[in-house]
Order: sequence, then structure tokens, then C-alpha cells
Amino acid sequence: MMEQLKLINAPTNNYIIENFSANNFCEQTERQNLEKKYAKFLEVTEKFNRQSVSYQLNKKNILHSWLKYKEGFSADLVNILLDEMGAKSGDWVMDPFIGSGTTALVCQMRGINTIGYDIMPISAVAIKAKAAVMRYNLNEIQQLIKSVSNLVVPDSYQKKTPHISITDSAYPQKNELFLAYIHDWNEQSIYSSEVKNLLTLCIINSLERCSYTIKSGQYLRWDCRSKKVQDTNKVRESKGQKLLPKNFVRKEILDSKQIILEELSHALIDIELLQKAPINTTHTEINFIQRSVLYELPLVEDNKIKGVITSPPYCNRYDYTRTYALELVYLGINENTIKKMRQELLSCTVENKSKIDKLRDHYSSIGQIDRFIDIYKRIKENKIFAEIMTALAKRKENGDLNNNGIIRMVEGYFTELAFIYAELYRICKTGAMVAFVNDNVRYGGEIIPVDFLCTSFAEQFGFKVKTIYTLKQQKGNSSQQMAKFGRVALRKGITVWTKE
Ligand SMILES: C[S@@+](CC[C@H](N)C(=O)[O-])C[C@H]1O[C@@H](n2cnc3c(N)ncnc32)[C@H](O)[C@@H]1O
Repeated sequence: MMEQLKLINAPTNNYIIENFSANNFCEQTERQNLEKKYAKFLEVTEKFNRQSVSYQLNKKNILHSWLKYKEGFSADLVNILLDEMGAKSGDWVMDPFIGSGTTALVCQMRGINTIGYDIMPISAVAIKAKAAVMRYNLNEIQQLIKSVSNLVVPDSYQKKTPHISITDSAYPQKNELFLAYIHDWNEQSIYSSEVKNLLTLCIINSLERCSYTIKSGQYLRWDCRSKKVQDTNKVRESKGQKLLPKNFVRKEILDSKQIILEELSHALIDIELLQKAPINTTHTEINFIQRSVLYELPLVEDNKIKGVITSPPYCNRYDYTRTYALELVYLGINENTIKKMRQELLSCTVENKSKIDKLRDHYSSIGQIDRFIDIYKRIKENKIFAEIMTALAKRKENGDLNNNGIIRMVEGYFTELAFIYAELYRICKTGAMVAFVNDNVRYGGEIIPVDFLCTSFAEQFGFKVKTIYTLKQQKGNSSQQMAKFGRVALRKGITVWTKE
């Protein structure tokens, strides 16, 4: 009966890909067979949409809007998946890529414990600030707001906000001074550590809006009013080169003090509302570890968790360490550490180098080298992955890849994710449910069915496929891909697997 229903609900052909390789340039049989194999699990859904798989719904959401984390997903998505999982008070749910902490915070409100990982200190600040929501003393925050509104940078104050090369002169002079001053003031103030941390979150959430920059995936885009663009244009002009466009990437560059005060007031309103609301009073734990999940999961005990709700970085060249450079630097991270952090990212940028040797050493150091060998062997046995890697190599030779680092990124990305699936299977309890949000991608005219490929790895390590949700609205391609290879809609979705 279930099978029949699945077939009746079977998606239209629009969602099933027939041709993975533009102009049939590369071998694609494995991908085509995979598409046939998993088509019956594909559920085109309106339960999730572009807003709920992204940060958009959180923008207006109480608590979850405290950090504008554009890569986040919504609290609604987490609630739906927790219901589907049947997670109850006292269970442990994991988010291996916790970001702004949406999974952990929704779980906390439902009395569910969480374990989460992220390499970015921004996560630590955000999670600490949000997790304390029921404990803040309202008078203390009101007092803090008064103190901040009375802050005046003394004439004698000369310090500058710290910078690295890609953030240098990111703020107008007045903001530059105020941001440095409030940082020092916060460190020395008499407020509790939780309230100081809340102020830090409000500051880092304001940085972009009071700067000349705007986050743009792979890098920061700069406003033409910035010294950086003006200086570059002077040099270009002197060399007779084409000038950088004179566009305003931001309508307004806001006053830092004003925007920080707005953030604090916004947080205060949420805190007042939540402290009044009847909530789950069960004690919950949020166990956040600020390290790469790749090296941490092998240390987690077997059969611990009820489920996973997560979205890893996508395989799309998006560089978190560049887009969040302003925030990282403000938190005291220097250029070198940011470069190291970039290498710690799940391989999602063309700069990522292979982590396989380090991973082998790690498994060896914890007495698990056999496990490493077994997982790696299975990854190498995955024929779909092998076909994709061969196709990309052929595309490279043909000059179809606009960056040769794409091959290393794709290889690293799926190898690392597969290690994570293998470990998740081990640490999940029987009956657990694992949900990963991700997007399919296309490089050099080759489609990578991320949802199905990941599911094939998950099955190799023991998971059973439950549902592969795909959003009604699919994803387009980059203009370069479209011009060269035509347009193919790509699935965006959530893969759901179980341990039986
Ligand atoms: C798509 S975001 C997750 C957003 C999250 N679902 C939310 O609602 O805020 C992916 C996160 O993975 C983190 N990340 C990347 N590589 C990692 C690694 N090796 N270990 C742990 N976290 C990592 C990034 O820093 C980023 O915060």
C-alpha cells in the first residue's frame, strides 16, 4: 500500500534528470541508474519551501532572528522534522553543522538535548546568547541599553577595530572608532558574562550593516564609497585599466551605536515575551563543541542519538571564512587562524586541500585505523562517485571547468561527508532518523545529484532511505553554465534516512 502511494505521488518528470552530462560528453550510466533507483523515494513537497530551508522565515522569528545567518534554516523546518522523527523530551538530537544554532534552540524549547559542532566562534557566541534566554535578568539588560546609549568615545581614544587584509577600512571612521571602543568597554564592564556575550552578539550582528561591505557567498562585495574601491580605482585609472563599477552595494551605511541599540532592544522584547510564555521546563543540555565535526564524531559513543537535523555547507564554493570575515576578526581571530579555519571547513571551496592524510592520522591516533580503512575503501567503491570524478577530470581536460580546484573540492566534499555518514550510523540509536538539507550542483556541464549520491553513501553505511524531499521550486544554474551548456533545473531538498 505504502509503495503504491509513493508511486501515485511520484514526481513529474521535471524532477527526474535524464541527462547528467551536457552534450552527452561523459559517461553517465551510473547516475542515470541511481536516478531510477531512488525516484520512488522522491517526494515533491510543499511541507518545506525555499523560505523554510533558508534563513528567511527566521528573520521574523522570535529568538532565531538574533543572528542574521543567511545560510541557516528555519525553526519551522526543525519543528516539522522533530515531529517526523518522534523526538521526545530527554532524547539527544545532533546537528553536526550547527551554524547559528537553530536545531539546538528549537530542541531546547521542546525539552530535547542537543550536541552540535561548528568551527566558527560566531556559533559559540550565538548559541550561548540564545540558550540563556530564560535566565537573563531584564533589569540588567535595560541597564545595559542605558549604558550603551550613554557611551561616548573619548577624544583621547585612538584604537582601531582589528582588521585583516580583506576587511581593511571596512567601516566609516566614526563606526570604526565606536566599534573598537565598545569592544574594550564591554570587556571591562560590570555586567554578567551572559549579558556581555549578548552585547557581543548584537555587535557582530550589526557589523555588516554599519560597514561598506555586503556578504556575497564567495567573498565580500564593497561599496564604491569605501576607501578600498576608491584607492583601487585610482591605481587602475593611472594604468589606464577599466575601473571597478561605481555602484552602491548598500543603500545606507548605518550608525553603529544606533544599530547595536536596536539589536539590544529587539533582543529585550524577545526575552520579555519568552520569559512570560509557558514553556517546557524540562532541563535540557546544549553540548556545543567548537571543532571540526570530522574529527569529533569518531569520539562519540555508539547508539547515543535519536536523530540528526542539519544542513552542511553546500558543495558550491561558498566560503564562510570570507563572508564572515568582519565578524571573525571582531571576535579576535587573526589572518592566520582564519586561513587555518578555511582549511577546516568541510571541503566547499576551491582552496580546500585534501584532509585524508590528517583524517587517517586521527583515526590512527584514537586506535581506529581499521575503521578508517574500511570507510575509505567503501567510499572508493561507490561507482556513482567514481563516475562523477572521472567526468569532472574529462571536463577539466576539455577546459570546461573555470577553476581546477573544483575537482579537489568535489572529491573532498563527498569523501568527508561519507565519513560523517558512517560515524552517524554508528552513533545513532536503532529507530533514529537523519535529515540533511542540501542542493544539487552542476560543474562544467556535469550534474551532481547531491541528494541521491549522498543517499547512496548513507545506504552503503547501513541507513535505510525514508524519503527524499524535494522542493517544488528548483534551483537555476550560474550564468556561465547556462551560456555554455543550457539550463537544467536542479533539485533542492532534504534527504531523510533511518537506522533500522
Ligand atoms: C549551512 S550552515 C548551517 C546553518 C544552520 N543549520 C543554521 O540554521 O544556522 C553550515 C555550517 O557548517 C559549518 N562547518 C563547515 N565545516 C565544518 C566542519 N568541518 N565542522 C563543523 N562545522 C563546519 C559552517 O561554519 C556553517 O556554520
